[in-house]
Amino acid sequence: MTTPVLSRIRRMASLPVVRPVLEGAHRAFLALRRLWRAPDARADEIARFNRLAATWWDPLGPMRPLHVVNALRLELLLDLFAQYLRGSAQSSAPLRVADIGCGAGLVCEPLAERGARVVGIDAAGKNIAAARLHAARAGLSIDYRAGEPCTALAPEERFDAILLLEVLEHVEDVAALVAQAARHLAPGGLLVASTINRTPQSFLAAIVGAEYVFRVLPVGTHRFGQLVRPAELRAAAESCGLEWLEQRGMRYLPVVHRAWWTRDASVNYLAVFRRPGASC
Ligand SMILES: C[S@@+](CC[C@H](N)C(=O)[O-])C[C@H]1O[C@@H](n2cnc3c(N)ncnc32)[C@H](O)[C@@H]1O
Repeated sequence: MTTPVLSRIRRMASLPVVRPVLEGAHRAFLALRRLWRAPDARADEIARFNRLAATWWDPLGPMRPLHVVNALRLELLLDLFAQYLRGSAQSSAPLRVADIGCGAGLVCEPLAERGARVVGIDAAGKNIAAARLHAARAGLSIDYRAGEPCTALAPEERFDAILLLEVLEHVEDVAALVAQAARHLAPGGLLVASTINRTPQSFLAAIVGAEYVFRVLPVGTHRFGQLVRPAELRAAAESCGLEWLEQRGMRYLPVVHRAWWTRDASVNYLAVFRRPGASC
């Protein structure tokens, strides 16, 4: 019964008019699947970031959006540190900061310049090599380590602030990376995470607009299925015993390359959490 049906389908599929349609549909399916999630998200992401390592510090290169948002987020980080880590600010000890997924050090360097003791961790070894080179040329002492927090940090290491900036949307298991980071937060310490929400607006702005229309990011930088809703991030942090402090949205205008904070977290956003306990 099924055999004649199958052979009829096969005959139809091989017809000169049907075949290109089926091939097109298959290609569209694969493209849609890639938009949703990389086949092997972790290896794929790290390989892509390794390829970009040499261009990281070019302000007009593929990392241009990170250069554009850098001043904005640095100012906010310093405000957050002053607001929530008053104990550290008053003490003479330098602030201990871990920047997880640090790339080639766009945030590590200005923090180190301001006196923080910075550990920069990145799973892409070539980023770490580029970061070390750049810091050496700038005369900055930053402890760069290749790997993920679970391998790059010793179990007893603790930080006043841990940063997960534009990283969570590139990992397979957001909760696992948040947990790895939270483990190293000192009592009273801050976890600051910025990422991209998973909404229709972010699909249009951060994927279609940024990658395909305005070309401010290489195609394939973000996969919709890997974007992170604020409630998911909050649940992951709270399940590690962290308390939610605040959140803000960020807007990026690709044509003029301008960024600003907003209350609307439907595309980019940043959330702040704290490990309860005495201030660091
Ligand atoms: C978009 S870049 C952000 C770089 C930097 N945080 C910034 O905002 O300027 C994401 C970085 O996270 C790194 N990364 C991805 N997954 C990681 C993981 N599980 N552990 C450490 N680094 C990771 C990538 O190699 C890449 O350098």
